[in-house]
Amino acid sequence: MALQTAVMWTRCLLLLLLFSLSPPTVAVAASSVSSGAEVLVNGSCIAAERDALFSFKAGITSDPSRLLRSWRGQDCCRWYGVRCSTKTGHVVKLDLRNGFFLDDFYTVDNAVHWLRGQISASLLSLLHLEHLDLSGNFLGGNMPIPKFMGSLQSLTYLNLSNMNFSGRVPPQLGNLTKLVYLDIHNDSPDTAYTYSSDVSWLASLYSLEHLDMSRVNLSATTDWVYSMNTLPNLRVLGLSTCGLISSIPSLIHHNLTVLEEVDLSNNPFRTPVAPNWYWDVTSLKSLTIPNCELSGPFPDELGNLTKLETLDMGSNNIEGMVPSTLNKLCGLQVIYLSYNNIGGDIIDLIERLPNCSWCSFQHLELAGANISGTTLKSILNLTSLSILDISDNYLRGSVPLEIGTLHKLTKLYIGSNNFSGVISEGHFSGLTDLKAVDLSYTNLRVMVHSDWEPPFNLDRAYLSSCHLGPQVPDWLRLQPSLSSLVISDAGLIGRIPDWFWTTFSNAAYLDLSYNQITGELPHNLEFMAVTWLNLQSNYLTGSVPLLPRSIQILDISKNSLNGQLPSKFKAPYLLAIVLFSNSLTGIIPDSICQWPQLQFLDLSNNLLMGGLPNCGIEDLKQLKPSSTNFSRVRFANSYSLEIRTLVLNNNSLSGGFPIFLKRCQNLMFLDLSQNKFSGKLPTWVSEDMPNLVVLRLRSNIFSGHIPIETTRLFSLPLLNLKALTTTSVALDTTVNNPFLEVYQFGYMNIRFGLSNDSLSLVTKGQVLDYRENAKLFTSIDLSCNRLTGQIPEEIGSLLGLINLNLSSNYLSGNIPYKISNLQSESLDLSNNQLSGRQLDTLQADDPTSVYIGNPGLCGHPLPKACPGDQPLQGPIIRHEDDKAQMEFHLTLILGFLLYDKMEIFSVVTWQKWFKKRSTN
Ligand SMILES: *[C@@H]1O[C@H](CO)[C@@H](O)[C@H](O)[C@H]1NC(C)=O
Ligand SMILES: *[C@@H]1O[C@H](CO)[C@@H](O)[C@H](O)[C@H]1NC(C)=O
Ligand SMILES: *[C@@H]1O[C@H](CO)[C@@H](O)[C@H](O)[C@H]1NC(C)=O
Ligand SMILES: *[C@@H]1O[C@H](CO)[C@@H](O)[C@H](O)[C@H]1NC(C)=O
Ligand SMILES: *[C@@H]1O[C@H](CO)[C@@H](O)[C@H](O)[C@H]1NC(C)=O
Ligand SMILES: *[C@@H]1O[C@H](CO)[C@@H](O)[C@H](O)[C@H]1NC(C)=O
Ligand SMILES: *[C@@H]1O[C@H](CO)[C@@H](O)[C@H](O)[C@H]1NC(C)=O
Repeated sequence: MALQTAVMWTRCLLLLLLFSLSPPTVAVAASSVSSGAEVLVNGSCIAAERDALFSFKAGITSDPSRLLRSWRGQDCCRWYGVRCSTKTGHVVKLDLRNGFFLDDFYTVDNAVHWLRGQISASLLSLLHLEHLDLSGNFLGGNMPIPKFMGSLQSLTYLNLSNMNFSGRVPPQLGNLTKLVYLDIHNDSPDTAYTYSSDVSWLASLYSLEHLDMSRVNLSATTDWVYSMNTLPNLRVLGLSTCGLISSIPSLIHHNLTVLEEVDLSNNPFRTPVAPNWYWDVTSLKSLTIPNCELSGPFPDELGNLTKLETLDMGSNNIEGMVPSTLNKLCGLQVIYLSYNNIGGDIIDLIERLPNCSWCSFQHLELAGANISGTTLKSILNLTSLSILDISDNYLRGSVPLEIGTLHKLTKLYIGSNNFSGVISEGHFSGLTDLKAVDLSYTNLRVMVHSDWEPPFNLDRAYLSSCHLGPQVPDWLRLQPSLSSLVISDAGLIGRIPDWFWTTFSNAAYLDLSYNQITGELPHNLEFMAVTWLNLQSNYLTGSVPLLPRSIQILDISKNSLNGQLPSKFKAPYLLAIVLFSNSLTGIIPDSICQWPQLQFLDLSNNLLMGGLPNCGIEDLKQLKPSSTNFSRVRFANSYSLEIRTLVLNNNSLSGGFPIFLKRCQNLMFLDLSQNKFSGKLPTWVSEDMPNLVVLRLRSNIFSGHIPIETTRLFSLPLLNLKALTTTSVALDTTVNNPFLEVYQFGYMNIRFGLSNDSLSLVTKGQVLDYRENAKLFTSIDLSCNRLTGQIPEEIGSLLGLINLNLSSNYLSGNIPYKISNLQSESLDLSNNQLSGRQLDTLQADDPTSVYIGNPGLCGHPLPKACPGDQPLQGPIIRHEDDKAQMEFHLTLILGFLLYDKMEIFSVVTWQKWFKKRSTN
């Protein structure tokens, strides 16, 4: 994870670069790095090789950074990325790596830089090519790595990582017997998997020193360890996220005598952590096995790895204290053990770290590890510490003033513990390098003088619940480099000072939620760079400000904003708008149709009125069926909106059922209840919103029949409905859960949750708690409308439906018999004009309430008997705790903070913890 952090930092820097340099300039900068000036051979390159390179160039269809602009003229040895042998003149090196690759393919930044096209087989003419690096370019075409790569037999270095290859890795690569370096890994979760079901071809690569196949699907291989064991020169092995499930306890003949780095992270081994073959590899300097579902205690054999410098075993199910055998690990500098169940006292733990390494120890990460203790004094022994993360444990007592003597600290995370006392200037006195601090959710008070000048220049500060108030502290004004600032629930009272917005105009993430902030926001915040702005639960008045184009998530819910929504607001990256419980007036502007990425819109509990915009749906309709299939599909796609969750209840919205929803094929949660919508229910709900999970239209003026098409909802097996019926499991349902978004663009991971006030506070991905009754279930609520006619018989086929409420309408006729097929936990048909025999096969906690107010009904459990009653036992139907369910608010839960992958990581593992804890 050290590496990941480094990568993330690099990414930040690169992003900055990207923003500050125009693409051509970048290209120049890039080319000066790798095209050396050592080329000679007298302006000549071998003609056949030049032709081969020209053919290669012809396969490139797009070169936005103009990497190949120098690829003309005779002397191919002077071309960008090409190097020839000084002796023979042959091309020996082709290096066109996209140095700007940022983990994920489909980011704008990558698109700006990658080469697109196809890799020409003409490369085969480069008989002397030793070094080939095309990494990070879009040259894979979602096709397998070409087999001809296996014929480039002079290669010693082959890097085809992060290209969009898919399919089988050609075993022909096994012919490259001179290979020393092979990298075909992928960082991007967006790309199709490449796979290899048999890696025995590796055995012939006996010179191989560096092998990275991370994110190549190897789940079908069982003997991969033996294949690796045939590589006696292997130093670096990267098999992260390969779907590996099998490992072996030990290698009888173990040849991996020079192996120094092993990364097996994110493979679902589901075994005890020991025995395991790598504990015998005493040459290891770095062992990376986080998130592998490893269990059991730490093995004593860890003490055999005397060369170990980095140990990452985070996010497993390891239980118990680290072993007492570590005293010979004098090179140990980095330990990540977060999110395991270490238990025990911090003093004990530090004492077990080899004392010969104390002075050189750099990273100590023990977040969420069930560690207790009343003092942090022992940590002061680790005098070189730069990263300390002991957040989310059971530590108590005060934070020693001497923490300020750990002058190399760059990251100090001690939040979510039960510390008490005061943090003062002194605690920070020597921390000149500090970049990131987390003191949130402790009982610590940060008390500094109003004229304090901090010695550091922070990038991230998480200070939730730190009693900073009553005013936004002045020292923050001296921290203009902050990219993430969280000062929620910090006791802030009064207005946000004007300097705040200018000082943090470059910040990406600002969270001042749950304070008592009053006054109006500046009318115009367009000058800012904020992507996430969270001001929920304050006393802000005035209108929604003008926001910058960069905005992705805006939450100003639970304030007293009034005025209208901004109407002309270009927000190409906007993902979520959460403005519920304000006093916003006016209409919902057309601009929502122009937000291409918007997924979550919650404007409930406001005073909005009027109809919803049509979003050009009429134009779409006019497109004649005669027009070609292709363009029609394309048009329809370009017209589709991404909205998944739309919550507009409790306003005064009117008009017919919003027709623009036809464009929202991804819609899962729709709540239009408590408005003035009228007219007929649409017949296209099931067709145009096939993913709908919750449909709430309660308390409107809808009339007419219940369209039979409604009964086709939930028919698609898209949802794991069972999983959606309990909170904890629902959190784990990463697919198709409208309240969970994992944005794969590498920047963020967001959870949308059901929660009430006290529970929606989230920082660093730790959702504090979920209310027990915040169940997310499939639901149709059409109650309190003016619906007439019969209940369609087919409603009984909605097998996945958990909640059906048709109460308080004018429905008449018999209750369809099939309704007893429903797995419903809740059924309400009360206050209608239903008649005939009620379903005596149903039983509920309060069975009569299901039917109450339908004077025509008779039979058990109703007091009115039908002729010839014969009570039967049937499926149990519990009556909904309607109030509890009604009152929930959808609250946007901000999952984690930007740019820090380790925190994404903790989100994932937090879920695991939550599950564990919630089952206790
Ligand atoms: C490794 O450690 C274990 C337990 O500490 C010990 O029994 C074993 O002999 C050690 N193996 C080697 C090769 O040192
Ligand atoms: C945390 O560690 C203690 C021992 O210090 C143990 O008793 C407790 O069960 C652990 N908690 C969990 C949730 O496992
Ligand atoms: C270091 O630890 C060893 C035992 O692991 C102990 O014998 C020795 O006294 C310790 N040295 C110091 C300076 O604490
Ligand atoms: C080192 O840690 C021990 C407790 O493990 C503590 O008693 C001692 O004071 C620490 N040394 C220093 C210099 O802080
Ligand atoms: C935290 O510490 C306070 C006293 O400082 C104590 O009253 C409280 O119970 C502790 N909370 C937890 C969760 O340990
Ligand atoms: C409806 O919204 C108004 C205005 O925000 C609010 O005062 C009221 O409590 C809400 N009603 C319900 C039932 O949530
Ligand atoms: C229209 O597209 C569908 C699939 O999208 C295809 O099955 C059908 O043949 C196409 N019709 C015409 C006329 O091209």
